[in-house]
Amino acid sequence: MKRVLICGSNGLLGQRIALALGGRTDLEVLNTGRQRSFVHDHKLFDYTQLDLGSRSDVRSLMSSFQPTTVVNAAGVADVDWCETHREEAWRTNVATVEHVLDGARRVGARIIHISTDYVFDGRNSPYAESALPCPVNYYGKTKLAAENAVHSSGVPAAILRVCLLFGTAMGTANSFATKVVRSLRVGENVNAAPDIGCNPLHVSSAAAAVVAALENDAEGIFHISGADFANRYDFACMLAATFGYSEGLVLSVKTTDLNLPAVRPMSTGFVTSKAERQLGFRPLPLRQTVSMFKQEFFHLAVN
Ligand SMILES: NC(=O)c1ccc[n+]([C@@H]2O[C@H](COP(=O)([O-])OP(=O)(O)OC[C@H]3O[C@@H](n4cnc5c(N)ncnc54)[C@H](OP(=O)(O)O)[C@@H]3O)[C@@H](O)[C@H]2O)c1
Repeated sequence: MKRVLICGSNGLLGQRIALALGGRTDLEVLNTGRQRSFVHDHKLFDYTQLDLGSRSDVRSLMSSFQPTTVVNAAGVADVDWCETHREEAWRTNVATVEHVLDGARRVGARIIHISTDYVFDGRNSPYAESALPCPVNYYGKTKLAAENAVHSSGVPAAILRVCLLFGTAMGTANSFATKVVRSLRVGENVNAAPDIGCNPLHVSSAAAAVVAALENDAEGIFHISGADFANRYDFACMLAATFGYSEGLVLSVKTTDLNLPAVRPMSTGFVTSKAERQLGFRPLPLRQTVSMFKQEFFHLAVN
């Protein structure tokens, strides 16, 4: 029986992976996170506190749980925070991965590691897995360094690069889509850039790709994204229209006028055919996933 250790279970993606694997009787799953308890407090989920910043704690938990696969969904995805908190960003996005790899190597586990479209410079999208990474901001640099650590570790690994995630989750940092909806529903304007875009990805699709990678013992890099490219302005307008809020509240503001600390790669759409072929991944149309997001947002009461 596979023994699966999930790192970062309290995060936006980590929660969905935990929910997707909770209740599976053919797997032994242990959720972990920095916090004392798991946000979904239910007997379906085994959880233990684990700060990946401690190499010895990671070694010790791996040696007691003896995972066959480690799913690493931990990290910091706040691009501007990484730009202005470089040492902490490196510790969170690179040093933790080195600790996980060290632990995995000792117990002979494979790893599924989550990376990002921000390893690219945004000038030649859509990107296939064979494209050369060239990050333009510090977040992208940390994520590429983590990928390189995975490659050089010798640990059998699948790296899933995901695009802008959206979906509901308990108590996590705001994603772009959640921030937009929260502002629109109280009648606040939203500034959204028409000159940055990607293929936004619903977090349940990302979790499904992780499960497929787990079941297939996948190795190599996989690009995982939604089916449709959208710039931030169009994405925000689609959210407004779907949720029934005024599209007039969405203001088109160029990235340079947003005065953000971190430079953005402008266009990071993905080619997902490798994941479709090898993992059975199905990229979903943006309209469909935005409708799913609306259903969850109001019905799961976690907004
Ligand atoms: N969000 C996006 O749009 C996006 C896009 C592309 C790629 N990604 C990648 O997807 C992955 C997951 O992102 P996300 O959006 O789910 O992020 P998230 O909601 O911020 O979740 C990340 C989780 O990692 C945990 N974590 C951070 N440092 C840790 C440590 N030292 N030990 C243990 N846990 C630690 C956090 O714990 P706390 O709860 O204690 O803070 C948090 O629960 C990341 O690798 C990110 O780079 C995200």
